[in-house]
Amino acid sequence: MAQSWLQLSIRTGAASIDALSNVVIERGSPGVVLKRDGLDAFFPTSHDNAALRREIRRSVVKVTRLNSRAASPRLQWKFIKPENWEQSWKRFIKPRRVGKSFWVTPPWLEPPKFRRRRVIVMDPGMAFGTGTHATTRGCMEFLEVVAHKLAGKKFTALDVGTGSGILSIALALLGATEIWAIDNDPVAVKVAGENLRANRVAERIRLSEKKLVAIRRTFTVVVANLTAETMVELADALKKRVTPAGYLVLSGILYQQAAAVVRRFAENFRLIERRRKREWVTLLLRRKA
Ligand SMILES: C[S@@+](CC[C@H](N)C(=O)[O-])C[C@H]1O[C@@H](n2cnc3c(N)ncnc32)[C@H](O)[C@@H]1O
Repeated sequence: MAQSWLQLSIRTGAASIDALSNVVIERGSPGVVLKRDGLDAFFPTSHDNAALRREIRRSVVKVTRLNSRAASPRLQWKFIKPENWEQSWKRFIKPRRVGKSFWVTPPWLEPPKFRRRRVIVMDPGMAFGTGTHATTRGCMEFLEVVAHKLAGKKFTALDVGTGSGILSIALALLGATEIWAIDNDPVAVKVAGENLRANRVAERIRLSEKKLVAIRRTFTVVVANLTAETMVELADALKKRVTPAGYLVLSGILYQQAAAVVRRFAENFRLIERRRKREWVTLLLRRKA
């Protein structure tokens, strides 16, 4: 029998959308549609949906309480008939502009035919890294900035925690001559591999589960969209992988944590720019020559 689905609409105002999308993805929603004042998420129906509803309500209340700008949350659940499922979720997904030059588009839509655009094909039903999250967008914007600064020069790149592979694909489109992509989650590596092939850049990217500490060489650009805790823990290993005068792009940092992360890198790196999107900060650092 066809799987039936539940649609959850959460409305809280714009302030906590990213944290809320993490909540629903962690609870098993394969797809999230971001709205101006909240989001819609989808869950397969199962015998323990009541427990799921309670758990999500608790987490949503907790997340919105942490953010003084969030309105008190409204949650609405509704059943979607299996025959409506495909349409109900796919019709919301449109090609999305990221940064100045990227379009992220689902595989079932024709990529927009804009000149001088870089098109990345991503299935939005997958795990993290579909180009909607503020941290991914922050990294893509700074990778554009770095590529612009390096225009005319050859550059290499390392993508730590590649997830869906989106940042490596972006780096390939920006002209990096050699790209290494690593992730400690074998499922992410498999998904990234599929995405690299779908975007016809697989042969330019060395994808593996290799540990950061096991990499010995350096790169002109290192990008890591992890968590602030992981970044601080991996700081020494990250620092060593950037060539002198090379660039380091860090994201996954809540704005309250940004100063501590900058301090951790300050001895060897100069902060060039920080950008905040909702509660997330992305940092662009440059290694001292
Ligand atoms: C927030 S996602 C980022 C995905 C993608 N790079 C993006 O920007 O959308 C973080 C990824 O880092 C991976 N990860 C977490 N800790 C890691 C570590 N110590 N080494 C390598 N990968 C790690 C996770 O498995 C996950 O795929």
